[in-house]
Amino acid sequence: MIDNIIKPLLLEDETYTKIGRLLEQEMAKGLSKTTNPSAKVKMLPTYVRALPNGLEEGNFLALDLGGTNFRVLLISLSKESGVRMENKIYPVPEKIMTGTGKELFDHIAYCISDFIHEHNIQGQHLPLGFTFSFPCKQESLSVGRLISWTKGFSCSDVEGENVVDLLHAAIKRRNDISVECVAILNDTVGCLMSCAYLDHDAEIGVILGTGTNACYMEKLDKVELWDQDKAEPSQVVINTEWGAFGDDGCLDFIRTDYDFQIDERSLNRGRQLFEKMISGMYMGEIVRLVVVECVRTSLMFSGVLGRFKERDCFKTKYVSAVEKDHGRGSFENTKRIIEQMGIKEFTDSDCSALFRICQAVSIRAAKLSSAAIVTLMNRINRPNITVAVDGSLFRFHPRFEGVMKETIAEMYNFGHQFKLMLSEDGSGKGAALVAAVAHRLKNN
Ligand code: GLC
Repeated sequence: MIDNIIKPLLLEDETYTKIGRLLEQEMAKGLSKTTNPSAKVKMLPTYVRALPNGLEEGNFLALDLGGTNFRVLLISLSKESGVRMENKIYPVPEKIMTGTGKELFDHIAYCISDFIHEHNIQGQHLPLGFTFSFPCKQESLSVGRLISWTKGFSCSDVEGENVVDLLHAAIKRRNDISVECVAILNDTVGCLMSCAYLDHDAEIGVILGTGTNACYMEKLDKVELWDQDKAEPSQVVINTEWGAFGDDGCLDFIRTDYDFQIDERSLNRGRQLFEKMISGMYMGEIVRLVVVECVRTSLMFSGVLGRFKERDCFKTKYVSAVEKDHGRGSFENTKRIIEQMGIKEFTDSDCSALFRICQAVSIRAAKLSSAAIVTLMNRINRPNITVAVDGSLFRFHPRFEGVMKETIAEMYNFGHQFKLMLSEDGSGKGAALVAAVAHRLKNN
């Protein structure tokens, strides 16, 4: 029965509560000086200590690398008219994602140059904020060393290096533009900044996209690794890198055969295990593996696999499309997708089986992320908390947000008020806001 096959994906409420407690322990390990070196959830201080106050001004360039698309942006911040943005998407071919660091940064410098020439802004020496959505150990707002690649990138000679130096070196090699990167930030931080600009209760930034991660505002006396001055504001945004939760085996009790298979075949084996159960880069593939198991046991598609046998061919956007059929009383999207997957003959019960698999995988992802968010909310423990959220999964999945709201409300101990706020282009706006602060500090 299909029920038996999807059962390991359906977890009890208590299990999610337990996962939340485990994350709390892992976060404590990451924050403590003695346990940080071996901790998997790294809890990285970002050097962002103040949230925007709406008075930021100026023109900035921004780069956004590490999500669905690579983009270059031109952003103007003004007190009167708020934020104006123009951006261009540049594809990053897989060959570059897995090539050398030099090729990657030369490509990025080429894109910046193309953008600057297209917008005719060669003469302006614009400060640049770099949203680089990978785990970085920051040494200041403008120095970030890549700890390890995630999400399908594996360029050589970048891990351990200051990414901003690599970018500047590539810009210098071209010698046709004048740009200075004044800030490097994680996408979670950009997401938080862009919402905090509008809502002063925003204290948590969450990405549910190609990868998953969160940041939050922490008190400096809790951050043992903080060796800088402790002047006001006595707080700093921590990039949790919660995607690596479970990398020490503490989540193995919930991982299914499908999760083990996903990890086995990934570029970063044994790493980002929490992320691999949740994010857009993996969700479609989990569904595909469950379908393969159902077909193999002749529970679906009369034993015919079609394109379901091809790795990574069932995209996470198909999961969203299938779930859109929920409540419509028809399998319109589901049928179209099954046909696209090369299955010619199928029944309504095949459609409903595919729907149930998508639902089980998505609900698990939404509840896992909710449990993790509740852990952060309990830590902050304020009467009103706004959680800034961004990412393709959260944006385009029809029921992710609904399941999250319900789960968080059920799990949140203190019963305080919370709000999930969709961040509007946090990676761009946030980069400009952090660059504005960095630029101000530099010129003070
Ligand atoms: C991965 C990266 C992390 C990023 C997240 C969302 O988990 O390691 O830095 O924030 O993806 O893009």
